[in-house]
Amino acid sequence: MKVRKAVIPAAGLGTRFLPATKAVPKEMLPLIDTPSIQLVVEEAVRAGLTDILIITARDKGAIEDHFDRAPELEALLDARGKFDEAKQVRELSDLAQIHTVRQHEALGLGHAVGVAEAHVSGEPFAVLLGDDLIHPSVPLLREMLRVHERYGRSVLAGLEVARSEISAYGAIEPEMIEEDLARVRSVVEKPPADEAPSNLAAIGRYVFTPEIFEALRDTKPGHGGEIQLTDAINSLAQEQAVYAYTFEAGRFDAGNKLDYLKATVELAIERDDLGPAFSAWLADFVQRRKLL
Ligand code: G1P
Repeated sequence: MKVRKAVIPAAGLGTRFLPATKAVPKEMLPLIDTPSIQLVVEEAVRAGLTDILIITARDKGAIEDHFDRAPELEALLDARGKFDEAKQVRELSDLAQIHTVRQHEALGLGHAVGVAEAHVSGEPFAVLLGDDLIHPSVPLLREMLRVHERYGRSVLAGLEVARSEISAYGAIEPEMIEEDLARVRSVVEKPPADEAPSNLAAIGRYVFTPEIFEALRDTKPGHGGEIQLTDAINSLAQEQAVYAYTFEAGRFDAGNKLDYLKATVELAIERDDLGPAFSAWLADFVQRRKLL
């Protein structure tokens, strides 16, 4: 069955970006001028997924507003002859069919994905985590969907990280079957580095068969007392094959200040409108500060 739906959990508190996230959902923090959640929605759309369910929570209304029509703003921009801006604002509501549902209690990522069950309604689906940003030139999700079409099973995204960093991720025990494809023997949430089965980290892109919901229902609170998606994937992997598509470059951790900054710089340098002036300034800045 072809995957049509994407689920984007966006119910987290964003404590790593306080005070910015006190009143603004972390998913609305922009990379230059685009909220990170818009980049994630655009990625899903590029991969052919146009039915998108965002899992929100209290005080996340700005996310819904962002993908809604804004008649007054559009009329004002039109009246002032700002037609490009008006078009940009209007197109956001046509990007995809965006739905939202609330997670009522912060019980963990696994619980948040479980909230999508009724909407997903027995179909395979993708999950995209907003803290992980994938460079628009990297067709990661499309490749994962291809693996799903081939095997009809769930697919994780695997990225090798330094051994010292693996304890921040779901760590995969892989059995390599092709150069960039592994069968997932097991996966464990944030293990101590010396207990991790490998340094292959699960990055926030997933394609799931609907059986993940049964596994989620049976999942007890795990790491940090939360219902972990990783634990449900691990039990699913004991019932049916789960694959990991491995990739190497093009991922930023937007939930981390340093990587967020790097992503901003890289995206700015690549933009036609900002790139030339920004690169020139940056080169000069590096020289002045004797950074090289
Ligand atoms: C979540 C998942 C973890 C995964 C990571 C990818 O963790 O629980 O398994 O490796 O996303 O970014 P978080 O970063 O939300 O703590």
